[in-house]
Amino acid sequence: MTIFEELRTDHNKQRKLLELLLGTSGNEPERKQYYQQLKVQLDQHAAAEERYFYNPLIEDDATIEMSRHGIAEHHEIDELVETLEQTEMSSPAWLQHFKNLQHKVLHHLEDEEQGFFQRAGKVLNEEEKEKLGKDYRNMMKEKGL
Ligand SMILES: [Fe+2]
Ligand SMILES: [Fe+2]
Repeated sequence: MTIFEELRTDHNKQRKLLELLLGTSGNEPERKQYYQQLKVQLDQHAAAEERYFYNPLIEDDATIEMSRHGIAEHHEIDELVETLEQTEMSSPAWLQHFKNLQHKVLHHLEDEEQGFFQRAGKVLNEEEKEKLGKDYRNMMKEKGL
């Protein structure tokens, strides 16, 4: 699979977890469970995506700006996760912070899939798309994902 297909696969895992989390409430064990899964997915996906998608693309004039933008959004997502970490999970504030995170993540995934992938598709050749996809997936597997 190409890097685009691999990234999309994991984006959909994030979307699913966000949706599942929205259906949980208060002290339900599911909230904790899905949240832990989401946190690991977000973190490992961002690390592997930066290495095998943004790093190669930041070298090219056509994709330098979107790469910087994408990486900056990863940092914003980190900060929202940090805020959530510091909030009692059963409190109404947690749900509000969670919704902020959901909004940001969904927007970020749209940016990547609707804009960045298209631009990146013109910069990377077919061989690179496959190689990066394989490297990305191997890194995720090493983390047990
Ligand atoms: Fe990303
Ligand atoms: Fe992504």
